[in-house]
Amino acid sequence: MSFKVNGQDFTQEPKPGQCLRTFLRELGWFGVKKGCDAGDCGACTVYLDGEPVHSCLMPAFRAEGREVTTIEGLGAGNDLHPMQRAFLDAQGFQCGFCTAGMIMTAASLNQAQRADLGRALKGNICRCTGYRSIDDALAGLREIDDTNDDACGRNVPAPAGSDLVQGRARFTLDVDVEGLLHMKLARSPHAYARIRKIDTSAALAVPGVVAVFTHEDSPKTAFSTGRHEDRSIDPDDTLVLDDVVRFVGQRVAAVVADSEAAAEQGCRKLKIDYEILPAVFEPEDAMVEGAPVIHDKGSEARIQDPQRNIAGEIHGGIGDVDAGFAEADVIHEGTYFTPRTQHSHLETHAAIGWIDDHGTLNLRASTQVPFLTSKELARVFGLDGRKVRVFCERVGGGFGGKQEMLVEDVVALATLKLKRPVKLEFTRQEQFIAATTRHPMRVSVKVGARRDGTLTAIQMRVVSNTGAYGNHGSAVLEHACSESIAVYRCPNKKVDGFAVYTNTVPAGGFRGYGLPQTNFAVESAIDEVAHALGMDGLEIRRLNAIREGDAMLSTGEAHDDVIYGSYGLDQCFDLIAQAFDDGGDPAPDGWRVGQGFALSLANTIPPGGHFSDSVIELRPDGAYELTVGTAEFGNGTTTVHRQIAASVLSTAPGDIHLRSSDTGHGGHDTGAFGSTGTVVAGRATERAARALRDMILGAAAKALGVPATDCTLQADAVTAGGKRVSLSDLHRESGGDLAATGSTNGIPRSVAFNVHGFRVAVNPVSGEIRILKSVQAADAGTVINPMQCRAQVEGGVAQALGAALFEEMIIDGEGRVANAQFRNYHLPAFADIPRTEVLFAETHDTLGPFGAKSMSESPYNPVGAALANAVRDAIGVRFYALPLKPDRVFAGLGKANKR
Ligand code: FES
Ligand code: FES
Repeated sequence: MSFKVNGQDFTQEPKPGQCLRTFLRELGWFGVKKGCDAGDCGACTVYLDGEPVHSCLMPAFRAEGREVTTIEGLGAGNDLHPMQRAFLDAQGFQCGFCTAGMIMTAASLNQAQRADLGRALKGNICRCTGYRSIDDALAGLREIDDTNDDACGRNVPAPAGSDLVQGRARFTLDVDVEGLLHMKLARSPHAYARIRKIDTSAALAVPGVVAVFTHEDSPKTAFSTGRHEDRSIDPDDTLVLDDVVRFVGQRVAAVVADSEAAAEQGCRKLKIDYEILPAVFEPEDAMVEGAPVIHDKGSEARIQDPQRNIAGEIHGGIGDVDAGFAEADVIHEGTYFTPRTQHSHLETHAAIGWIDDHGTLNLRASTQVPFLTSKELARVFGLDGRKVRVFCERVGGGFGGKQEMLVEDVVALATLKLKRPVKLEFTRQEQFIAATTRHPMRVSVKVGARRDGTLTAIQMRVVSNTGAYGNHGSAVLEHACSESIAVYRCPNKKVDGFAVYTNTVPAGGFRGYGLPQTNFAVESAIDEVAHALGMDGLEIRRLNAIREGDAMLSTGEAHDDVIYGSYGLDQCFDLIAQAFDDGGDPAPDGWRVGQGFALSLANTIPPGGHFSDSVIELRPDGAYELTVGTAEFGNGTTTVHRQIAASVLSTAPGDIHLRSSDTGHGGHDTGAFGSTGTVVAGRATERAARALRDMILGAAAKALGVPATDCTLQADAVTAGGKRVSLSDLHRESGGDLAATGSTNGIPRSVAFNVHGFRVAVNPVSGEIRILKSVQAADAGTVINPMQCRAQVEGGVAQALGAALFEEMIIDGEGRVANAQFRNYHLPAFADIPRTEVLFAETHDTLGPFGAKSMSESPYNPVGAALANAVRDAIGVRFYALPLKPDRVFAGLGKANKR
């Protein structure tokens, strides 16, 4: 068949049944992305004869005789389409995986369509931005600051922006690899079963199938998919391929073939004989004596209590809660529930493995933790650590979901056995049934206060469903039990927490790391106490929240490494109070209006040490080469690191050339999680840059014959009085030896604060919630890039709003995920997310680089509770479970009316 792509003639036959998306990618048009392959996300949008289509839904043969335009053909180089320029000016992206499709759709809109963007963009999902910067792009707003002023404190644009808007940025699978084999995974249909036998003969007979791997081929070294610097945090309860399956969707076998279709066919041909075991789906049931035991290993796997299915537990407190409740004039007690939600990063888990000429196993992966993955692969496969390289080029979103090793291990197995390049890419359905999720939590909370609002006691029991494997189970539980009540200066606290195995899809790390769940419970309970006392929601929090210097206690264990690097919670309260002192918004006719608030405290770095190395060197052209280990996945670290280094070296961010996230570059980085990209890795970059600056000044002093203290570093030279030596000359004279390293260990840690306020209108007939005003005040220290930091807050709020309003994975009676598609899961689209006003407290942290604090995860934390509190204020009904779908609000209204 003949057709044109971006003006070029092609004559090629698609495979039977092939969609246009995969056909175009096979021709090398990598700007065409896959987010769902079901018509739900728009990442694959191209034009067919000028009309936008979702190419994943379009049979490739329909392109016959027609003209296809991809993002690469929309505009390039100096000839960008105005919409590409608009996205650059407004920085309408974070990870950028949705960007090509978003621009293609946006560029096709006429004036009438642009007047209703909610409708016009309903087919394009962005999981990162919260849509404000996309809205700004369409409105033609210019947010970037490309002047040459001080590098820090400015809206410096992302270095990858130009490539992203042209479809040239290379994500994990955007490469041609010669001789690439494709892997597909056969998955368990049973929630709990022992594999008696796998007959692979029919699968191996499928034309194109190269190999089938089962538990018999798997290393017997157990590990956890969750990656932490200290690997003992997570239990060793997982094998690459196991002979026991513990949830529906667990991998049973890997089929490798010369095409995806053959690998899929091979999976279908496997004959697997299972012994089905009784399963348990609810954590409270799983803890009961006599419940099915999901893991029979104990201390050697670091599982707390296998007989009760408890992966980890926490018990502690301060003071005497019974005495505290006895002193209280008002007590609220309730059990709150937050469901299982999915990260839904648009780029699914994926990796390509190969062995190079030096015998090194290479993995090009979509990961937030290349170094920890490389280390664990070496352990599991018994390899020399120097012979395993893991790297990523650009990652299409993560949100904690890629702090897991979910594909790299099985790709490594096949690559090592076959000595050929192998690729594995999760489908969107696999993301839902086999990748990790947020931990569903049931949180019983009891709060007591005196008549004046002073808290007397807080008690909390947390039951967290870690699913079939314990990755992140204990660490998430610890976080959940900590800051949610440590933020209150209450003398009596008690906490009991359990992370419990069930035969459901495993949970893992997800933005907020347990705090959104407990925050919903605690902040709802505080609000109920305020209502009972007739107090304002901000007033009760201001009265009881910790003040600078207070001990931050929950379980009684003081974290000696957490300090007040700065304190801006008081400012956050003031900013929110001012924002809501506006006389209110007009309510739609008959709707009821209310407002609600919630706060959150987050320790800025994970406990136990978080390590980063940076190396910076002067290049022959007088610019700099900066090498960092942390990964960019939309969190903006590639921009911020260049700003930090440029500030120290008195140059422009454009003169800092960055290489990142590659174990082959040497050094170490714990990973891009826990909001550490700026505060930990950024500090390493700052230290490296300062060391290099001193070296350059020393070399210049020698060359100019003056003391180093008389020398001034400038963008291209060092000057002293009337003397000058160029950086290029210094590089040459030093023999190319001007390079320095910087390291950090993430100790001590600081604290960041967020306060969120909503004003909502609720339709008392339909239960619909409309957000009239959304404001978040954040204490992010001194903000290095206001545009990016604001966007992190907006993105976090948008994700949290999705979880508060719609998102919920449904597990059926057999343990299956019943809504494993975007369309049934309801990922928020443009029309679903209101603008959030983001206000920053002005503080300067003593720990972070240039006074900065982390601000990536914590904006998520207070949102669910603030929304529920606003709804409570509007209609007088307390909701104990998220999400607040209209049918639930309607049912709640009905119950309230009957009272
Ligand atoms: S990949 Fe085509 S719409 Fe999602
Ligand atoms: S920038 Fe839109 S999905 Fe990441």
